[in-house]
Amino acid sequence: MRIVVTGAAGLVGSAAVQHFGATGLTHRDLDITNATAVQKMIADLRPDLIVNCAVIGVDECERDPALARAVNVDGPANLARVAPSIVHFSSNYVFDGRDERFYATDDVPRPINEYGRTKLDGERAVAELCQRAFIIRSSWIFGRGKESFISTVHRRLRAGERVRAVSDVWASTTYVRDLVESVAEIIDNNVYGLHHVVNAGVCSNETFALDAARIVGADPQLVEPASTGEVHHTARPRYTPLLTTKPLRDWREALAAYIQSEP
Ligand SMILES: NC(=O)c1ccc[n+]([C@@H]2O[C@H](COP(=O)([O-])OP(=O)(O)OC[C@H]3O[C@@H](n4cnc5c(N)ncnc54)[C@H](OP(=O)(O)O)[C@@H]3O)[C@@H](O)[C@H]2O)c1
Repeated sequence: MRIVVTGAAGLVGSAAVQHFGATGLTHRDLDITNATAVQKMIADLRPDLIVNCAVIGVDECERDPALARAVNVDGPANLARVAPSIVHFSSNYVFDGRDERFYATDDVPRPINEYGRTKLDGERAVAELCQRAFIIRSSWIFGRGKESFISTVHRRLRAGERVRAVSDVWASTTYVRDLVESVAEIIDNNVYGLHHVVNAGVCSNETFALDAARIVGADPQLVEPASTGEVHHTARPRYTPLLTTKPLRDWREALAAYIQSEP
């Protein structure tokens, strides 16, 4: 199967290229908002499957809603219109997180920020335009090559650095390697449609950091709890863990595996 990954330089994109032995197209190689360039790519590479990992993140979406819509909605639509089959990633932030419970795929999404709204519209556009679409909602993904809080906090703590960790926002978290392995299984079994793929359990950035401290033997006092309002400019939904049909290993086990492979 010929697989092309778009947004290939990012966290999920680079893991997908590696796992699938796919052709990776970075932003520089292909801007997914350019419909003509997308059509040319299809004609040149003739992929059987496109794995779309291009995205505009939470804070940038709030700063530039037009760009957010172009990349998170129109770009995926450009790909879905011409792809024989597509994997498209979405997010727990399609939910409002007002109730303290896990969200299932048939729960009604009610996004509270621009990222969530564009991710929801993106998944709907892809589902409408491509019959063989796999829509994968994941949450707080960590792994190699990303300078995010959850991907780097173990190194900062080991170095003795104090970290401020948000303690009042809760969600599932996901090791990128577990994510791509699970997506590969979904593709192999041709299970088209909407899926939630996350590690089991629920965490806040604070409990995540405390567990990272435990694993690397750092002083837990280095983790300073903070409210989301103190740390983030953009509102995050408060409690959005995802219910999965096929549970992956617990996030603590996945975090230990990540730290062992990327000390
Ligand atoms: N990371 C998470 O915690 C998380 C959680 C839930 C869901 N997801 C979903 O997982 C998917 C992948 O996220 P990620 O964390 O891997 O993102 P990422 O690390 O931020 O990578 C996104 C990539 O998209 C590229 N890109 C931006 N605009 C583009 C365009 N117009 N055309 C082509 N490429 C473009 C970026 O390149 P430049 O930087 O060069 O612009 C970047 O390499 C997304 O659908 C996201 O919503 C992520």
